[in-house]
Amino acid sequence: MKKLLMVAASAAFVMGTMSLAPMTAQAAAWGKCKACHNFTEKKKVGPGLKGVLGREAGTAKGAKSKALKAGGWTWDEDNMRAWMCKSKDAIKVLSGDPKAKTKMPNQKICDAAKQDEVIAKLKSL
Ligand code: HEC
Repeated sequence: MKKLLMVAASAAFVMGTMSLAPMTAQAAAWGKCKACHNFTEKKKVGPGLKGVLGREAGTAKGAKSKALKAGGWTWDEDNMRAWMCKSKDAIKVLSGDPKAKTKMPNQKICDAAKQDEVIAKLKSL
């Protein structure tokens, strides 16, 4: 019985520390973007992300695909959420062309809280 209590107590301790430090325990969602984007205006693999919210799609250096270059929409929170979840689907919806493609792989950031982290980062630039 005593042993069981000890196990329960240490499990509670581990869970307690985990919930206290979720931000430090796992990398922020926007860390993924850095592999291909600068958080400045300078292009890397894709366009620089500084000022992207409110910017017309495809107007910055670094846009590669025909569909993104053609643009026709402005980046806002809603389409950015769709984009960071599944860019390959979002490009079709945003461009209005069911065959449109983008060179940016799906980032699979589909969880609202994770998307909030990325949006907050983009706004802070
Ligand atoms: C593996 C590389 C890669 C990663 C990781 C990546 N992107 Fe991209 N991104 C690209 C490429 C390449 C383009 C240009 C796509 C095209 O031309 O179709 C792009 C384009 C974009 C655009 C369009 C920019 C504009 O000026 O219209 C946005 C917005 C964007 N990415 C946001 C993000 C965000 C936010 C993340 C992180 C959650 C991210 N990307 C992660 C490669 C990446």
